[in-house]
Order: sequence, then C-alpha cells, then structure tokens
Amino acid sequence: MQAVGVYPSKKAVGILEHLRPEIQHDDVVKVRSLEVGICGTDREICTFVYGEPPEGSEYLILGHESLGEVGEVGSAVQNIKVGDLVVPSVRRPCDFETCQPCQAGFQDFCATGEFVERGIKARHGFMTEEYAEHEQFLYVAPQHLRDIAVLVEPLTIAEKALAHVWQMQLRLPWIKEGLGDVPKGTGLKAVVLGAGSIGILGAMKLVSEGFETYVYSRSKKPNPKAELVEAVGIKYISNLEYSVEEFAEMVGNIDLVYEAVGVSRVAYDVLRVLGDNGIFVFTGIPVPNPPIEIDADLIMRNVVLKNQLIVGTVNADSAAFEAALADLDVFLDRWPDAIRSVITGRFGIEDCHELLLGKAQGIKNVIQFS
Ligand SMILES: NC(=O)c1ccc[n+]([C@@H]2O[C@H](COP(=O)([O-])OP(=O)(O)OC[C@H]3O[C@@H](n4cnc5c(N)ncnc54)[C@H](OP(=O)(O)O)[C@@H]3O)[C@@H](O)[C@H]2O)c1
Ligand SMILES: [Zn+2]
Ligand SMILES: [Zn+2]
Repeated sequence: MQAVGVYPSKKAVGILEHLRPEIQHDDVVKVRSLEVGICGTDREICTFVYGEPPEGSEYLILGHESLGEVGEVGSAVQNIKVGDLVVPSVRRPCDFETCQPCQAGFQDFCATGEFVERGIKARHGFMTEEYAEHEQFLYVAPQHLRDIAVLVEPLTIAEKALAHVWQMQLRLPWIKEGLGDVPKGTGLKAVVLGAGSIGILGAMKLVSEGFETYVYSRSKKPNPKAELVEAVGIKYISNLEYSVEEFAEMVGNIDLVYEAVGVSRVAYDVLRVLGDNGIFVFTGIPVPNPPIEIDADLIMRNVVLKNQLIVGTVNADSAAFEAALADLDVFLDRWPDAIRSVITGRFGIEDCHELLLGKAQGIKNVIQFS
C-alpha cells in the first residue's frame, strides 16, 4: 500500500510502498485512513532536523494528526467496532518501570526521554492507507464530526494547557472550583500569540471557556485568519501595526497568554506585559537560533511582584483527547462555518511533495486517503 515518508539517510521525501498492517495482538484495531493533517512538525521532519525511523527501517512514515475508520478489530477489543471513526494519540510510553509518568499512563510527561511518537520518533505515523493500533490509544469520534475530527489532535494542545491553567488558578485562595453555570474564564482576558491552527483552535477554546480573547499575530488585516477569528468574537491585532505596549494598553490586565507562535522574540516581548496574577503558557517550539536579548530584570520583577506563573506544555493525555472531541462538538454548534474553515485545503497523496516542501499556505491542510 502507499504511504508518505522520509528517508533521513538519503534526505528523500515522498510516496513509498509499505506492507499492509496485520492484527498481531488481540487488542489491536486495524484502521483505514480518511484524513491526515499536516503541520509544522511534519515539514520540519522533511528538513531532517529531527524525525527518527523505527529500528530496522530506513524510512519513517509521517503523520500524527489522523482521522480513520475502523476496518477490523482484534478478539479482545471491547469498546471499538468496525465502521467507527477513530482518532489516535501520538506518544507511546517508554519501557522503564522507574518512569512514573509513563507507568501512570501520562507519557506526555515521560521523564526518561525514551518515549516514542508515531510519525515523529521511532514509530511509523498515520500517513498511510491503513495502520494498526492498540485500542487504548484510539478515541472514537461521533459520525457527525466526520469533516472536522482531524482537528482533534491539534486541539488537544489547548485542552491540556487549559486543564492545567484551571489547576494552577486554584492557587488563588478566592477561586472556587467552578462558578456554577458561568464559564470559568468569565471576566478574564486571554491573549493568543500566533494565528496558525494551534493558535486559532486555542483561541476558540478560550472563548468557549468565557475569556475575552485577543489574537496577537503577524499578518496585517484584512487576511483570512483574522476574518476567521473575528467571526467567533475574537479581536485580531497584528504586531506589524501595533507594538506590544500599544497592544497591552488596548487589552488591559492580561490574565492569560497562550503562546502558539514559536518565535521566542515575540513570546518574551509579550511576557513583559503579562498582568497581575497572570499565567503564561508556552506551546511553541522554536527552531534553535542564536541567543536573543531579553529584559530579564523587568520580567523577573514582574513574575515576583505580580504573582505570575510561566508554564510549558507538550503533547497531550487521554483526558485532553476526550475534551477535544467534546469541544469540537461545541465549536460545531456555535461556529459551524468557522470551525470548518480551519481546514483550508484537502489534497490527494500525490500532492504530498508540495504540501511538505513547498511554501506553507492556509491554516490546516489535510491529505485525504478516501
Ligand atoms: N506544545 C506542543 O505540543 C505543540 C504541538 C504542535 C505544535 N506546537 C508548536 O506550536 C507553534 C504553532 O504551531 P502552528 O502549527 O499553529 O504554526 P503556524 O501555522 O506556523 O502558525 C504560526 C503563527 O504565528 C505567526 N507568526 C510567525 N512569526 C511571527 C512573528 N514574528 N510575529 C507575530 N506572529 C508571528 C504566523 O503569522 P502569519 O499568519 O502572518 O504567518 C502564524 O499565524 C509552533 O511553534 C509549533 O512547533 C507545539
Ligand atoms: Zn501536528
Ligand atoms: Zn517514560
């Protein structure tokens, strides 16, 4: 069958032939790929800065943002049946019994660094006609989410981040768990840095949690990303038009920053204007560049005098996948056109070269398998 992958030793990217998977354990599910999202991680693997084939393989099959349909189930599979739509998670635990996070099912916090990731590190990904996966790593998506469920994986980044934000907010003695029927972000202001798929999905999550939400990104208005976020009640501001100081003046006290820009200069510039008791969540993974100057004294003074928190988050746990599925339902109900228009292009496998190596375009592009 056909798959899309990279040969790091030959510095080659493209369509390759791969054996169809077999069900080799009774808890395994065979999945037919429907759609696979492409993101910056896939494009970076194609520049060979990282990305590791499985042991014994010359190539790595790409793809970690997948939606598929179940074709066959092993005899011990309990909660998944043929015809179900499924979304797989990405990271798999390390083998060390001493790794508490992996042993507890939280490989997103793996403490040994020996985890593997499908489509990224030492395990083939999902950009292939069919794949096999253990039931425990698959999440069933309802049929009515068929045209957007490929967004589950990128949405999990915001889901995990927000789950942690609410735990951290409980450090504030006057915050009670839940506010009755009022969304927890009511009365708070959130800023999202970057208007790529991670930023836009994060911004939608913040609005649904009640935050007054701003997206601070690059391209000047008018542009399609600005139009999309403004359609859901988010204010879009370009840093080419407004400096960080001008932007902060516009917003007022910034309670939360959800960084999804991946550019350290922009992130640290905005960290200077984080508000009282504010939380700054880093999700971006910058490519290594020479060191930059930052106003460290100001930042350190603020962190202390304003009781601020700075936190990073990678990948996602089971709860985040379940929450992303639930939230896509909410988004579809509230903003059906906007959530669908996060997917800006659907392409055949033959377009993989252009999508992976050409100029980045649109918000989320997907490869369709059937
Ligand atoms: N933590 C995790 O587990 C995780 C998972 C996935 C991705 N990520 C990271 O999350 C980040 C965002 O991913 P993405 O896929 O959404 O990226 P993306 O599609 O490349 O979007 C980046 C956004 O940032 C904006 N931007 C770029 N340079 C800027 C600058 N100098 N000033 C202001 N805005 C700027 C871009 O503006 P334009 O619209 O003008 O191009 C774009 O809107 C990346 O760093 C990625 O590695 C992390
Ligand atoms: Zn991705
Ligand atoms: Zn581990």
